[in-house]
Amino acid sequence: MSAAYRVGFIACGLIAEGAHLPAYRKIPAVEVVAGADISEEVRRRWTDDLGVPHMYASAEELLEREKPDIVSICTWPPLRPDMVELACAAGVKGILAEKPMAVDLAGCDRMIAAAERAGAVLVIGHQRRFHNRYVKARELIDSGAIGDLVQITGYGGGDLLTGGTHTVDCIRYLVHDAPAEWVIGQIDRRDPGFTNRRLGLQQWEETHLRYGHHIEAGAFAMIQFQGGVRATIESGIMMRPGRGGWPATIYGTDGIIEVGHDRTEPGQPWLRARVKGEADWLSPEVEANDAFQAEIEALIDVIERGGTHPLDGRSARAGHEILMAIYQSARRRARIDLPLDVTESPLEAMIAAGEV
Ligand SMILES: NC(=O)c1ccc[n+]([C@@H]2O[C@H](COP(=O)([O-])OP(=O)(O)OC[C@H]3O[C@@H](n4cnc5c(N)ncnc54)[C@H](O)[C@@H]3O)[C@@H](O)[C@H]2O)c1
Repeated sequence: MSAAYRVGFIACGLIAEGAHLPAYRKIPAVEVVAGADISEEVRRRWTDDLGVPHMYASAEELLEREKPDIVSICTWPPLRPDMVELACAAGVKGILAEKPMAVDLAGCDRMIAAAERAGAVLVIGHQRRFHNRYVKARELIDSGAIGDLVQITGYGGGDLLTGGTHTVDCIRYLVHDAPAEWVIGQIDRRDPGFTNRRLGLQQWEETHLRYGHHIEAGAFAMIQFQGGVRATIESGIMMRPGRGGWPATIYGTDGIIEVGHDRTEPGQPWLRARVKGEADWLSPEVEANDAFQAEIEALIDVIERGGTHPLDGRSARAGHEILMAIYQSARRRARIDLPLDVTESPLEAMIAAGEV
């Protein structure tokens, strides 16, 4: 019996091969039928080594010939709005587009408009909130284990668009996606000293762009959420040394929770908590799961039964707005009240204006 959903890939690089493809292959309701990538070497690997039946050199050809039900869009962010518009025009039912959603809010708005016009479910791949360690952390908060939630600190070693977008999404998950009221932040634009390599740095020495957009070497920000919780973000060169293994600390009136990274050190728990009345850290049981598989299963569920995916375009836009507000705060040297009134990227704008 053939699977219910035919899946196509637009861009078949690292995350497509390493995370999306294995996740789809664990789900009986879907079958990966095709991929599109401009690299001949990649197309050959997907055909010969990964057994994907049909590979194309362009997204247009894949969409036209294969008519997939679901597409994974794993391009670099500047191409994302164009690719989402193409997929929606081709009549797909669901889209899993990688993070960050786009470079700027104008791009996010194009993606949301295209999906809503076409009636397609658009999901942005901040899979971490689907990992059981974050699910358990939120359960602990909601159970009152650390008293009233006061503050979350998120840490990340990269730049805001590449890694900070995950940090913001995890924080938003922990506060049940409460709207942000204001943001204040600063960035450092010194040369991070990268060399050409994978993870978006293939053309760093020629372009000083990562994943096709500008980045900062470090950032610090404070976010005020409706309901009173605050969050701070330390990223890049501003990340406290040694925090990479524990990217989130959650402070309550009666205790704290620390959440571990995607890959924990041997012996390190996924999560640990200090709660009132307990002398030492507790390490609650967490069953490791494939968060990519879980976000895809949730996408299929929304296609079949309706409702809103927790990572849908509007939710991801709210996270992206926080990132853009950090840049705008650095540009204006001011606290930025949301909603943000610019849809261009303040980082790209200040670089174009020669301000940084
Ligand atoms: N969710 C996560 O945890 C996670 C992890 C890593 C990367 N990502 C994100 O995934 C995205 C892709 O990252 P990557 O590291 O896989 O990139 P990559 O450089 O490994 O792959 C990009 C691929 O896109 C192809 N490509 C370029 N232009 C194309 C076009 N017009 N049509 C079709 N294919 C085209 C390239 O040939 C390449 O194979 C980035 O936005 C990145 O931030 C997410």
